[in-house]
Amino acid sequence: AYDAGPFVPEDADLAGLARAAADCRGCPLHEAATRTVFGEGSPDARVVLIGEQPGDQEDRQGHPFVGPAGRELSRALEEAGIDPELAYITNAVKHFKFTVREERGKRRMHESPSLREVRACRPWLDAELSLLAPDLVVALGATAARGLLGSDFRLTRHRGELQPGNPPVLATIHPSAVLRSPDRGAMHASLVSDLTVAARTLA
Ligand code: URA
Repeated sequence: AYDAGPFVPEDADLAGLARAAADCRGCPLHEAATRTVFGEGSPDARVVLIGEQPGDQEDRQGHPFVGPAGRELSRALEEAGIDPELAYITNAVKHFKFTVREERGKRRMHESPSLREVRACRPWLDAELSLLAPDLVVALGATAARGLLGSDFRLTRHRGELQPGNPPVLATIHPSAVLRSPDRGAMHASLVSDLTVAARTLA
């Protein structure tokens, strides 16, 4: 079975986890991806933001949310009043999954990770969360939300609601969904509105 578990060191700090994750072979996604993109942020972060998986730019640069979705996320966090210094940003899956399309030159098109891949990568996320012990987790999009809240969780119905737990989880739309939407303004406003709920619980 796919499983990152055997690659996760015991008693490592965040930097140690990130070093070990660079060599993860827990599922086949490492074969095509350039590198592992691990979570980043302060060890004292009070909120952990969880995306789906690194995108093309993240895979090239080796950092989470540094491409277009990252710019949308930064803008939304600022408008919601969440200090990026208080946030740790990571992904449900730590390798970029893509298919290559030959049109208009070779383009690497994002492909959604399977449930197996999300489950395989989960030990990394659990290790991050157990070291960080945040006050709140924000799931960005359905992949992260279902990973944390169960596959029956309906994002459209329950986004922006604080789900009790240890830590509590608030799910919202993925910043990429804002960028893809024909109504970007409204989608951006609704992302900010959900993140404002998160900001209030951190206040
Ligand atoms: N989308 C994600 O879910 N994560 C990233 O790191 C970048 C884009």
